[in-house]
Amino acid sequence: FLSQIGPDAHMRMILRKPPGQRTIDDLEIIYEELLHIKALSHLSTTVKRELAGVLIFESHPKAGTVLFNQGEEGTSWYIILKGSVNVVIYGKGVVCTLHEGDDFGKLALVNDAPRAASIVLREDNCHFLRVDKEDFNRILRDVEANTVRLKEHDQDVLVLEKIPAGNRVSNQGNSQPQHKYIVMSGTPEKILEHFLETMRLEVTLNEATDSALNDFIMMHCVFMPNSQLCPALMAQYPFPSQGTEQEKMDYALNNKRRVIRLVLQWAALYGDLLQEDEAAMAFLEEFYVSVSDDTRMIAALKEQLPELEKIVKQVSEEPKAPQKKHKVLLQLFNTSDDRAQKRQPIRGSDEVLFKVYCIDQTYTTIRVPVSSSVKEVISAVADKLGSGEGLIIVKMSSGGEKVVLKPHDVSVFTTLSVNGRLFACPRDQFDSLAPLPEQEGPSTGTVGTFELMSSKDLAHQMTIYDWELFNCVHELELIYHTFGRHNFKKTTANLDLFLRRFNEIQFWVVTEICLCSQLSKRVQLLKKYIKIAAHCKEYKNLNSFFAIIMGLSNVAVSRLSLTWERMIANTVRTVKFCRSQSFNPDAALTNKNHQDVRSYVRQLNVIDNQRTLSQMSHRLEPRRA
Ligand code: CMP
Repeated sequence: FLSQIGPDAHMRMILRKPPGQRTIDDLEIIYEELLHIKALSHLSTTVKRELAGVLIFESHPKAGTVLFNQGEEGTSWYIILKGSVNVVIYGKGVVCTLHEGDDFGKLALVNDAPRAASIVLREDNCHFLRVDKEDFNRILRDVEANTVRLKEHDQDVLVLEKIPAGNRVSNQGNSQPQHKYIVMSGTPEKILEHFLETMRLEVTLNEATDSALNDFIMMHCVFMPNSQLCPALMAQYPFPSQGTEQEKMDYALNNKRRVIRLVLQWAALYGDLLQEDEAAMAFLEEFYVSVSDDTRMIAALKEQLPELEKIVKQVSEEPKAPQKKHKVLLQLFNTSDDRAQKRQPIRGSDEVLFKVYCIDQTYTTIRVPVSSSVKEVISAVADKLGSGEGLIIVKMSSGGEKVVLKPHDVSVFTTLSVNGRLFACPRDQFDSLAPLPEQEGPSTGTVGTFELMSSKDLAHQMTIYDWELFNCVHELELIYHTFGRHNFKKTTANLDLFLRRFNEIQFWVVTEICLCSQLSKRVQLLKKYIKIAAHCKEYKNLNSFFAIIMGLSNVAVSRLSLTWERMIANTVRTVKFCRSQSFNPDAALTNKNHQDVRSYVRQLNVIDNQRTLSQMSHRLEPRRA
């Protein structure tokens, strides 16, 4: 019998049997067969034996047959035994072809997401092995390949990697998948597509906790600027599909709702910053028009419209409101003195009145937007001086360190050191530029004044100020700062001022102590700073806390042995108190590794030559051009 119908047909016959009816011999034959299949080669013997019990044979006679459609729920995973299929994506057509030995369809299963593509038979008489969702989840979900590479036209467009999803238990009490695929890399458009596809509409916007999606929205400016993201979003928001099939309509509707959701999240992240970006504002308005047109045909879209409307209104009307108009900031970036007025974040379009010094130490005051590039600063100065032949802009520190700013540098006003100044001069005068006397700072301390203030009040006010500065920092400024603000042409003024405050506090501590000539006063001052630091820590203001501690450890202060000697009684008392406390090592932490860890932490090997360390650091990452 076997020889008559051939081994393939016999195999097919076994595989067509419902899994429950397969004999031990059948399972052995299937197992042997599985050893030759490429898509399974990475799986263990045990897994292959389990698969032998559940794999189902499926064949289709006609080319053009649709195995499943993009957007559908995933029910099975497939391996191609014979023939080939096309992977088809709406709006793109055939993106790649899969052949004998390839597999497809696990993304939807692992991530509980809709099908990312349709699968269409490319030739007559194709054979597949199929594993249904339940079996897949039981046997394969957690052992399936760690990396999935999706190709379009022979290029990797998306690389996904499996990570443990954490054993979260959802509200309904069902446990969530153990693993899921997350994006490792890909083309910006495909990554966007993937996030739209896997977005969960059930969760409301506020509790949307998909951190990968949030990260994408936050970080997209690094690899997909708004000028690219906005058109891509517009393209992902298709017109109502003409098809009459309910399924197609549902798909189009869901797709639209996802795009709207993403746009809302994107707009919420940018907040006020949207107004700085004309392309983004134009997109929002255009997008809003498309959605409101659609709501006439598709009632289900009405739900999201009011929220979108609110944002569009805010963005387009805000600049006209008088109190929101751009501000004019003084050189020191102190907005108004008016205590009732809350500090507003600085925007790139706000104007700053800034002094730029000349070689003879006179200055001109220019009025330019905060986000101006050095080139624009140069032309503002040239306008004032009446000539701008070969001017350069130089950042001068109080110590006389000079840096010529590059024409495309931005945010130059806020990145000066605490007493730094900007100079403008023809290039050939660069060598004779010298710092201004005022950059040296004060020659008398303020101890007389601040002696009268309580440490607690000082710490409290410092914390309020830090908090104001901190609150004005937009998360995106961190990204612009890290990846180079000139690449984004965006200001990081709020972040700069917050960082600058840290340095200011450090130098304040050192300045006051070094300007205090009387030893007994100096000791009082030292104690006071320690108290202020302690209060800052109480207020959870680690920013000022560390700034003060670093000020105190500045060599100019730490070398003042006479001052510290007077404090020794305090220190002795503290040490004595600390030693009287008992320390109970946590018995639970004593695991089997503990001997290794113990000896490791007791024998740290270090390089203690700072120069060597700096050299090594520069070799690792040379200074950026
Ligand atoms: P799934 O989303 O479950 O269903 C469609 C399958 O097509 C998908 O899993 C992948 O296995 C496969 N596929 C292959 N190439 C691509 C591609 N470029 N984009 C999306 N899916 C692809």
